[in-house]
Amino acid sequence: MHRLMLRPTNLALLTSVRAASVPAGIPNVKPKHTQLFINNEFVKSASGKTFDTINPANGEVISQVQEGDKTDVDRAVKAANDAFRLNSPWRRMNACDRGKLLNKLADLIERDRVFLASLEALDNGKPYAVAYMGDLHLVIECLRYYAGWADKNHGKTIPIAGDYFCYTRHEPVGVCGQIIPWNFPLLMQAWKLGPALAMGNTVVMKPAEQTPLTALHVAALIKEAGFPAGVVNVIPGFGPTAGAAIAKHNHVDKVAFTGSTEIGKLVMKEAANSNIKKVTLELGGKSPNIIFADSNVDKAVKQANHAVFFNHGQCCCAGTRTFVEAKIYDEFVEKSKQLADSITVGDPFDPNTRQGPQVDEDQMKKILSYVDIGKKEGAKLVAGGSRCGDRGYFVKPTVFAGVNDQMTIAQEEIFGPVQSILRFESMEDLVEKANNTIYGLAAGVMTSDLDKALYIANNMRAGTVWVNDYDVFDAAAPFGGYKQSGIGRELGEYGLQAYTEIKTVTIKTGPKNS
Ligand code: NAI
Ligand code: MG
Repeated sequence: MHRLMLRPTNLALLTSVRAASVPAGIPNVKPKHTQLFINNEFVKSASGKTFDTINPANGEVISQVQEGDKTDVDRAVKAANDAFRLNSPWRRMNACDRGKLLNKLADLIERDRVFLASLEALDNGKPYAVAYMGDLHLVIECLRYYAGWADKNHGKTIPIAGDYFCYTRHEPVGVCGQIIPWNFPLLMQAWKLGPALAMGNTVVMKPAEQTPLTALHVAALIKEAGFPAGVVNVIPGFGPTAGAAIAKHNHVDKVAFTGSTEIGKLVMKEAANSNIKKVTLELGGKSPNIIFADSNVDKAVKQANHAVFFNHGQCCCAGTRTFVEAKIYDEFVEKSKQLADSITVGDPFDPNTRQGPQVDEDQMKKILSYVDIGKKEGAKLVAGGSRCGDRGYFVKPTVFAGVNDQMTIAQEEIFGPVQSILRFESMEDLVEKANNTIYGLAAGVMTSDLDKALYIANNMRAGTVWVNDYDVFDAAAPFGGYKQSGIGRELGEYGLQAYTEIKTVTIKTGPKNS
């Protein structure tokens, strides 16, 4: 008998699977590729420079990676333009065959899933089981989802006035620069590659300097899958050199960036000052998670904990401002403290670990400085608040109570395991307070009252609202920011827009000489 299998997309569910169902990881996995990937070949950087990639669990060097800069970006952009030229194999390829290649890539990632999840855990510090069950699952689903779109995103015929045949064509934008961060290296790569390749664009991608390894392994799989040379190029390197060279390149038609709001602004400026390349941005967040007194408190505490601490707080959509209704506030704080204290912090390859190290020393220091600011501004530290051990970049799961929405820790993105719990009395000023940041990426609400849920959902200035759940991701559901959290949407049918130019063709019809 077949049982209906629901596709689990809640990251809490995905990653709560006990180690028994996850094949063993490879703790000291060796990367196979550390060079730039241009024109389907691994090559050295023009300067010959390399940089170290570090294991954040112990601060040791994993390997040296070739460091790309402007000259290498120029080479990659040329390869991407050549691959996009008229009548190239990629341009002549049937749309459905692009879908087959994306599915093939998903197959190869599935084949190498243990290796990739291990490499991701080593380079980024996230628990291997989470990388395997969460990140890799979503990567594979995303590529398959966009494989399905390759031959389905097409134009319309339009009945304009007069004797004309008018139709639109959905065409690729051209060469797409894609600059991605380190918090979900493989997943951010898939979110960017899926729609770009489905639509027939070519790509120059820069992974984050903290986590270049898995992107390079996927580059090898792209070649193995049979994508023509130059369709995808991967240039590891630093932001101000390789990243900026992409943003300001005159022969890059579009740039997609995920990272800090500060750098997002720079990328937009560079895009404007060069060739007005199209820009999509997925930036920071400071998302409210609103808990009404009518919700099940234990469940809400768990949900709110997950909303903050998943991926060690390194999520752009983390629900870091937990708004709790006064009636249950004290109980909620006490239980949140207990739950935060119970999180197992440690080695990403230990199956019991829920939280690994932060990605690097800079991030750890940034988080600890916000903890100091929180204490100075009068918030009450109830859990954590310090570094964990003296090796690697671990931070104790931290909870602040008595936070008000004017405090720095309630306004600025900390990007670490720090929960701020705010009290609210009534619906009156709740919406205004919850919306009161420069960001608008996501929001959560827990309540058993449908009216309240819908009121909050309708009035949050945020691109995603989760009701009675948090961090539910599916390749079919769009994701992106209001306000300074970004421009455009990724995922879903909407995600194709960023990678599509629309052409209107109008043909005169009717009797000859009329
Ligand atoms: P970042 O914004 O500097 O880095 C993200 C990507 O942009 C990396 O690939 C980086 O090399 C590149 N980049 C940096 N400077 C650039 C430039 N001038 N031109 C083009 N590309 C450039 O973020 P960083 O420094 O890693 O982290 C700082 C803060 O940013 C974090 O603490 C967090 O608050 C936020 N952040 C948000 C992310 C998100 O998912 N929205 C992801 C990573 C960081
Ligand atoms: Mg930076």
